[in-house]
Amino acid sequence: MVKSNNIYHVNTYQRFDVEFIKGNGVYLFDKEGNKFLDFLSGIAVTCLGHNNKELVTAAINQINNLWHVSNLFLSTPQEDLAKKLTEKSGLNKVFFCNSGTEANEAAIKFARKFGNGKSTIITADGGFHGRTMGSLSASAQKKLWEGFYPLAPGFVNVPYNDIEAIKNALDKSTIAVMVEPVQGENGVVIPSDNYLNNIRALCNENNLIMIVDEIQTGFGRTGKLFAYQHNNITPDIVTLAKGIANGLPLGAVLCSDKVAGAITPGSHGSTFGGNPVSVSAANKVIDLITEEILTNVNSMGKLLSEKIAASNIEEIKGIRNTGLMVGIEMSPDIDVKELAQSFLSKKVVVGTAGNNILRLLPPLIIEEKHINIFINTLTKIFNK
Ligand SMILES: Cc1ncc(COP(=O)(O)O)c(C=O)c1O
Repeated sequence: MVKSNNIYHVNTYQRFDVEFIKGNGVYLFDKEGNKFLDFLSGIAVTCLGHNNKELVTAAINQINNLWHVSNLFLSTPQEDLAKKLTEKSGLNKVFFCNSGTEANEAAIKFARKFGNGKSTIITADGGFHGRTMGSLSASAQKKLWEGFYPLAPGFVNVPYNDIEAIKNALDKSTIAVMVEPVQGENGVVIPSDNYLNNIRALCNENNLIMIVDEIQTGFGRTGKLFAYQHNNITPDIVTLAKGIANGLPLGAVLCSDKVAGAITPGSHGSTFGGNPVSVSAANKVIDLITEEILTNVNSMGKLLSEKIAASNIEEIKGIRNTGLMVGIEMSPDIDVKELAQSFLSKKVVVGTAGNNILRLLPPLIIEEKHINIFINTLTKIFNK
């Protein structure tokens, strides 16, 4: 059963009754040495699997030299990572922070500073951008807001995947449109192919900042390094976290010279942002997400979805997938939290999201044999 360990913790999480003490590749191990297949990757974070030797070496080398000095001084690891991120994204400048929500807070501030008085940001219903007040206010889901009013002002929410709704919401105060390329927390909601292109065009026409939240979709999850690259566009601001350092805390905001030009020393900052250890791991992560890995994401994502469909389980009502971001829509009589628990009892780690969606975010390095373990477990659970 799902348990919540709230003797000392504030009761923010309902934790599963298992403690992992080791990880290796796509597997996790508990205290008794039981081996679990990890199809969640710490919620889209450990994309290159656990205990990757090159990442461990990069982090340990940095730990042995220097693990904090603040952003008041130069940092070669940061310079190296910023160079790689700008070259690979097509953007010009980087701001480092520690998490996804902080990256979005910075993006909101940068857009408003650029706006010079214009402050309204259009966001999408069902979006998830984080838990701190600015990002929370941008996350148009009532259930996240309850108990936390008043929200930060200056956000207008419109239906996702509806360009006309964005057009209709524009007014003189609008400065930015902020979207996820795929809504992850909302249950892997994939917009139409031209949604991002239409937003880009609209932002160009109206001198608006296009903010793309790639915190979950970035770092190869959808089969491109960044999901907006499927659309051949360049946003003005891109926010990153989760997979960036394969589990060490790091966030980043990429922005165009146009946006960065509005920012001056003292207008934003972070004590820990761009910590040398996290950044050293991230430098390796970006080197390891090769074309070969992206090809694997595309082929394994396709295979996984095909095999789920071929299982012919009648409780499965739909499959949503882009690369290795997979949502399995379950019939309303299935409690997906209980279903995730059933998988865990059978030594497979999966997640849930949105409206009755079983969520799969396996490491980008999975092979067909891992997919077969998942499918065998799925069919066992549904007695096929
Ligand atoms: C799209 C998106 N944005 C922002 C966040 C918040 O990231 P963090 O939990 O690192 O603050 C998440 C986390 O799930 C996310 O999926």
